[in-house]
Amino acid sequence: MNLTIIGAGYVGLVTGAVFSDFGNKVRIIEIDQEKIKKLKKGEVPFYEPGLKELVAKNTAKKNLQFTNSYQEAIPKSEIIFVCVGTPTKNLQGGKPDLSYLYEATKSIAENLKEPAIIVVKSTVPPGTNMKLAEWMKKFTKVDFNLASVPEFLKEGTALEDSFHPSRVVIGAENKLVIKKLLLLHKKIPGKRLICNSSSAQMIKYASNTFLPMKITFANSLAILCEKLGADIKEVTKGMGMDKRIGPLFLDAGLGYGGSCFPKDIAALVGLAENAGFDFKLMKAVQKTNEEMINHFVRKTEKLCQGSIKDKVIVVLGLAFKPGTSDMRESRSVSLIKELQKKGALIRACDPVAIPEAKKLLTNVEYFLDPYKALEGADVLMVGSGPYSWEEYKNLDFVKLKKIMKGKVVIDSWNIYNKDKLKKLGFTYEGIGR
Ligand code: UGA
Repeated sequence: MNLTIIGAGYVGLVTGAVFSDFGNKVRIIEIDQEKIKKLKKGEVPFYEPGLKELVAKNTAKKNLQFTNSYQEAIPKSEIIFVCVGTPTKNLQGGKPDLSYLYEATKSIAENLKEPAIIVVKSTVPPGTNMKLAEWMKKFTKVDFNLASVPEFLKEGTALEDSFHPSRVVIGAENKLVIKKLLLLHKKIPGKRLICNSSSAQMIKYASNTFLPMKITFANSLAILCEKLGADIKEVTKGMGMDKRIGPLFLDAGLGYGGSCFPKDIAALVGLAENAGFDFKLMKAVQKTNEEMINHFVRKTEKLCQGSIKDKVIVVLGLAFKPGTSDMRESRSVSLIKELQKKGALIRACDPVAIPEAKKLLTNVEYFLDPYKALEGADVLMVGSGPYSWEEYKNLDFVKLKKIMKGKVVIDSWNIYNKDKLKKLGFTYEGIGR
């Protein structure tokens, strides 16, 4: 099929690469000329395992092309995916900004020559498609249908999530549209859910707010475990064995971050407020997540005899989670800023995110090699989680014992063997154990 994708961000680029790999002819429209230049040279603007290779393979086959021209791409397309950002400016509870969505759909409408299906992949409030249909009709007389197919990929495992999703949700009101979208997704395994477009849009918000709620529950429980002498890892393992609960997204740590969970919770809180409903549960999740940073700062102070002033603290992992260079709403950034307020001297390591981190942090010394960073340091602190980079997980603590000045380990995501570290003479604290 002939497809066009609007936006070469995370969702757009991955969607384009995946559908082109199935033999479809895909054009990606991106307004940022610099980005297009790079993509044409085979450079992917962010780190995502396997994506560069997949883009290069399908660009060489001419199944995947990049352009900044709606005029060139839209008339030839049967299905057009809108994958533009819908940021929420106020992360406490604001409406998502749909201006990119409205701009993109206007440009699509102005360039339609044949009937087409426009699929909204961006995360948008339920009911948006009805408004978009009215809006687009102002700019075209050509027939079109709107649908909503939300994206559930995770950064760091984007290709695996896209080639093997748990489900494909197709939100559409027209039977022929549903048939065509089912055909397009034929080679993709996973369950199918056909529903109306508003439900599809709500499924995305519901999933992206339920998961951080689950994480936040584990974090609160972890604090209680510390007080009552239980071990959160054992507790969540036991909970997860119940099929109704499930083991995933129960890893306690610094809290959730990233470009999606904080933004989507804020949007849902804002949408609820607009609809006259006070979503107290999600507000509590936001507040509790924020408080996790101070929990860790207090822990560090306690292990450093009450003060971290002038202590050299090495933070391992800067991106919002391991496996990505994405720094958006990274917990490591909030953590580092709080530690700096208390006078700590920060050294930081990350295999791929240092260039991005430099844009957000000041007075930080950066290292690629964790052993160099930890030479003469007082505290080792795990930054990104929950699984952590292999090189940080498998550190040689016998060697570290010799080169570190202090022997404090703050294992923010419980990735180390606490008994082994204690035996070696480290002062160890994880979370909830
Ligand atoms: C999230 C969702 O998981 C995807 O399904 C969704 O498609 C995506 O948002 C999106 O809307 O685009 P992502 O933000 O890439 O994906 O990353 P996650 O792996 O979900 O992690 C989000 C945050 O939760 C990270 O800060 C991570 O450290 C934290 N987390 C995750 C925990 O604190 N504990 C856990 O057990 C799992």
